[in-house]
Amino acid sequence: QGEQQVNEQGHLVIDGADTVALVKKYQTPLVVYDVTAIRQQIRRFKKVFEANHVKYAVSYASKAFATIAMFQLVNQEGAHIDVVSGGELYTAIKAGFPLEKVSFHGNNKSLAELEMAVSHHIGVIVVDNFHEIALLNQVLEAQDETINVLLRLTPGVSAHTHEYDQTGQEDSKFGFDIRSGQAEQALQMVLQNPRMHMQGIHAHIGSQIFEVEGFVLAAEKLVDLAADWQQKFHYEPEVLNVGGGFGIKYTEADDPIAPEAFVDAIVKAVQTRTAEHQLKMPAIWIEPGRSIVGPAGYNLYTIGSRKDVPGLRPYVTVDGGMGDNIRPALYQAEYEAILANKATEQPQETVRIAGKYCESGDILIQKQALPQSQPGDILAMKATGAYGYAMASNYNRNPRPAVVFVEQGNAKLVVQRESYEDLVHLDRSFV
Ligand code: LLP
Repeated sequence: QGEQQVNEQGHLVIDGADTVALVKKYQTPLVVYDVTAIRQQIRRFKKVFEANHVKYAVSYASKAFATIAMFQLVNQEGAHIDVVSGGELYTAIKAGFPLEKVSFHGNNKSLAELEMAVSHHIGVIVVDNFHEIALLNQVLEAQDETINVLLRLTPGVSAHTHEYDQTGQEDSKFGFDIRSGQAEQALQMVLQNPRMHMQGIHAHIGSQIFEVEGFVLAAEKLVDLAADWQQKFHYEPEVLNVGGGFGIKYTEADDPIAPEAFVDAIVKAVQTRTAEHQLKMPAIWIEPGRSIVGPAGYNLYTIGSRKDVPGLRPYVTVDGGMGDNIRPALYQAEYEAILANKATEQPQETVRIAGKYCESGDILIQKQALPQSQPGDILAMKATGAYGYAMASNYNRNPRPAVVFVEQGNAKLVVQRESYEDLVHLDRSFV
């Protein structure tokens, strides 16, 4: 996350565009992405792999923000994507995304989703469970097709923001358990299936992680497993996918390590361990979502009402809230905001930023120092680009915001604001 850009009028600037002008043109609530920042982040990940001379794929975890424009941008940067639903896959198809660079995740893919994936010849299915092996086989036979498969494994390493635990048997709904022999059984089933090509293994240990240790541990476990499989079945994975989860800075209190450090540690761990076991070096795939789009996104709101209670922090209310960013209400996630139209003014008071939704828990920020604000001021919440718009809802029948991509001063509307008509267009009359 770079330094905040402010112009002569004291307005916040996002990738060369004046936020006040953006709001005038597109209204609020508005989601704005700094396209240069997204490109840079993808390039940073790729560069570390290239410096280490390993085969790799940077696969953007599109659940963080999946729209046609985003998929097109990711494709311009030569990255892969992972999808977790027929809807994300459909969006990728509509975007013209090269489907051989798509991985399909999920712990309960439907028959229809698998049919769609196979008929569009997507790159790889990340198979999660035994039911899915059977379903996929059925689809492949019906369509007389073959497909690449990664096995999703539960490595027994789960990482949380500031800690990781190695409990041996992770209690997770995702993937094949390693210790109980499920993973080995799944491997044999895929190896014996002539329609499935066993491309490699996958593990994802968590999200918003601040340390390399969990990734290193998981990578080592995957390589150890590969060595075991080499011995027992003469099978060596071509791809080792270590998932996503690289943490980002939301507030001043957050101090994440650089993306380069994560990737470097993972690559070194895999290189060392494969050499020890005398295995071929596999391609390493990563699936960053949050770290690619999170810091690049801003939610812009217009300030409206205010409530002052003696002795308490004032409530300053904006024209959006939990419908466009559920993360504070859902995870107690913390953000920071500034007044976009008074970006050079010094803070004068500490307030709560409340949303407009009919729910007491709809508080976007519990404690925010701000200059004196007036109705009509523009509030910019920072680092909202991941799991913000992606998790937006129509709660209270509020239309979802518009999304604008800005690149070097040029703004482009990439998702239209929902209209009231959009809100009712699937409703059918009862009388
Ligand atoms: N790969 C897999 C298999 C995943 O399950 C996820 C995230 C990722 C990659 C990307 O992780 P990232 O790099 O974005 O941390 N809604 C939550 C986050 C849920 C993440 C789920 N899986 C939030 O807003 O914090």
